[in-house]
Amino acid sequence: MRLKDRVALVTGAASGIGRATAVRLAQEGARIAVADINPTMGAETVQTITEQGGTAVFIPADVSRVEDCERAVADSVSHFGQLNILVNNAAIMLEKNAVDTTEAEFDRLIGVNLKGTFFCAKYAVIQFRKQGQGGVIVNMASVNSFFAEGGIAAYCASKGGIAQLTRALAMDHSIEGIRVNGICPGWIETPMNAKFFALGPHIREQASRLHALGRIGAAEEVASGVVYLASDDAAFVTGSMLTIDGGFSAGLAPAMGIVV
Ligand SMILES: NC(=O)c1ccc[n+]([C@@H]2O[C@H](COP(=O)([O-])OP(=O)(O)OC[C@H]3O[C@@H](n4cnc5c(N)ncnc54)[C@H](O)[C@@H]3O)[C@@H](O)[C@H]2O)c1
Repeated sequence: MRLKDRVALVTGAASGIGRATAVRLAQEGARIAVADINPTMGAETVQTITEQGGTAVFIPADVSRVEDCERAVADSVSHFGQLNILVNNAAIMLEKNAVDTTEAEFDRLIGVNLKGTFFCAKYAVIQFRKQGQGGVIVNMASVNSFFAEGGIAAYCASKGGIAQLTRALAMDHSIEGIRVNGICPGWIETPMNAKFFALGPHIREQASRLHALGRIGAAEEVASGVVYLASDDAAFVTGSMLTIDGGFSAGLAPAMGIVV
């Protein structure tokens, strides 16, 4: 149990990578604040954790709202007495190029993905300072932080921002014992990608070929990386971006991504 006596707040923990991460962190002994905009699926994550003998609570939050970011941190502390780990995982996808994207769509996506990450980090750092024992932040970035794919311009911009925000937070707060790292997953089997895969088997085949391992990843394979970065095994790791992408970024992936 690498995270016994720790408390972790995981945003977007009702689904996909966030849910797998919440479950894995709980298996390592952490008590989990499951923060999400979806209360029904959030409750399912809590149930999964408690059925396995872990401890979790659901915290309703829309991370695009600064007051929800502040309250998610405050509620985690009021439930568990402390906060030690923040996983900034909540995000949305928009399958559009820049020309087709409206201002409202752009604001929403950046609000959830980048602003939410920024302000959850802000309030976590304030709490970590109060406790005086450091803390850990893991930001869910993407291969799209560094490699663009066609047709998802705002999403790519948000993930590029998260990578640089991760480094900036590390520069500002590592000296206080607050480690800040990011994870760059390749294509992972989650509801976020379900829309793409529903277009037909050719999408999965093309997406698989973008990865040197020739397949899509599993949410649990990303969660393992979060556990590592959150644990003392990564005590000398800060400001880094951990690639968990089946080799997507190891070579020259087809530049245009998939063809619908
Ligand atoms: N699936 C992939 O292939 C992939 C690849 C690279 C990076 N990622 C990143 O991994 C993270 C998780 O993605 P996923 O694939 O598990 O997606 P998902 O859609 O399965 O889960 C996203 C979760 O975020 C929640 N959410 C959405 N808007 C929210 C808001 N405003 N406030 C709070 N919660 C909100 C959703 O309700 C959902 O539970 C995201 O940051 C995503 O960008 C995913």
